[in-house]
Amino acid sequence: PVLSLSEPVIITAEQHIQLQQRQHSPEATGTFSWLLAGLTLATKLTESRVRRAGLLDVLGSAEHVNVQGEMQQKLDIFADQALIYCLGARDSVAVIASEENEEALIFEGRNKSGKYVIVFDPLDGSSNIDVNVSVGTVFSILRVPEGIDVETNAKQAVLQPGTEQLAAGYVVYGSSTILVYTTGHGVHGFTLDPTIGAYVLSHENIKMPIQGPYYSANEAYWDEFPESYQEYLRHIRSGGLGTRYSSRYIGSMVADFHRTLLKGGVFIYPPTAKSPEGKLRLLYEANPVAFLAEQAGGIASNGSGRVLDVTPTEIHQRTPLVVGSQVEMQAFQRIVEATA
Ligand code: AHG
Ligand code: MN
Ligand code: MN
Ligand code: MN
Repeated sequence: PVLSLSEPVIITAEQHIQLQQRQHSPEATGTFSWLLAGLTLATKLTESRVRRAGLLDVLGSAEHVNVQGEMQQKLDIFADQALIYCLGARDSVAVIASEENEEALIFEGRNKSGKYVIVFDPLDGSSNIDVNVSVGTVFSILRVPEGIDVETNAKQAVLQPGTEQLAAGYVVYGSSTILVYTTGHGVHGFTLDPTIGAYVLSHENIKMPIQGPYYSANEAYWDEFPESYQEYLRHIRSGGLGTRYSSRYIGSMVADFHRTLLKGGVFIYPPTAKSPEGKLRLLYEANPVAFLAEQAGGIASNGSGRVLDVTPTEIHQRTPLVVGSQVEMQAFQRIVEATA
């Protein structure tokens, strides 16, 4: 008997990635799909710790300060190691850079097989973990540029503008766990079904609404925001965009962005007196989110232009980030970018 599988019952993230590769890069060998499967596995390891965080001895700080000057949480370290381990097992991974490691990491003997650079924030919003608020993981994948020897120049392999990203995505460990990714062919979301341990397609081809009901900024820093950002926020709050807004701010960028992606609106982390370059990191926070936003029909700015066009000079370089729907972002371009 010949069985027809034309209407699959479920599509897992790993399957979806393979199908996309087959459709858009017929020459693909499967290494890229295998690499992404390493990422999804690592996030499942992290998710299982996050879910049981109050029961295992994994809450609280690890009494160690990272390169960012932040106290590392135990789960920051666990999530980082899960990713390094799962990606390290993929021959195609040449270089890794992470929030929790000062320098880029390379793997022994990968000079020939290693084609890819992976940068990530293993646990985003980690200060929220002890109080049961959503946290996330966010990543970006680049190709090792032609002619760069990663053994002597790993850093150079990492320092590429966001336009060079091959793929980007995140996982939110929220009321449910969801994986969202793009390879430049739309944005797709998968909800983790914990009973079978698989990310199952739940949000195909996500498009950001052209205007949303929320703006999202840490308004405790209001007095430190540049004048143009204050003017922009006043414009939004006073009905300048033709609708009444609510504010939402979780304090985990990935979760704040996820809401913005699905519901529309704008997420804003401006320069402040304390962080004149902004707080978020360009390579593994702003770039992946900017790539996803653009793929979903949104816009991402660093205050003076497109986030993805910035050529980085440092792995942990920070940037202001304003990302959201067309209507809110066009107003931002008028009020803030134009005066920058
Ligand atoms: P991380 O936990 O990975 O260090 O990132 C923290 C970031 C980000 O998730 C969030 O948007 C921002 O910090 C919140 O900062 P404030 O507390 O200054 O608003
Ligand atoms: Mn941190
Ligand atoms: Mn973060
Ligand atoms: Mn982090």
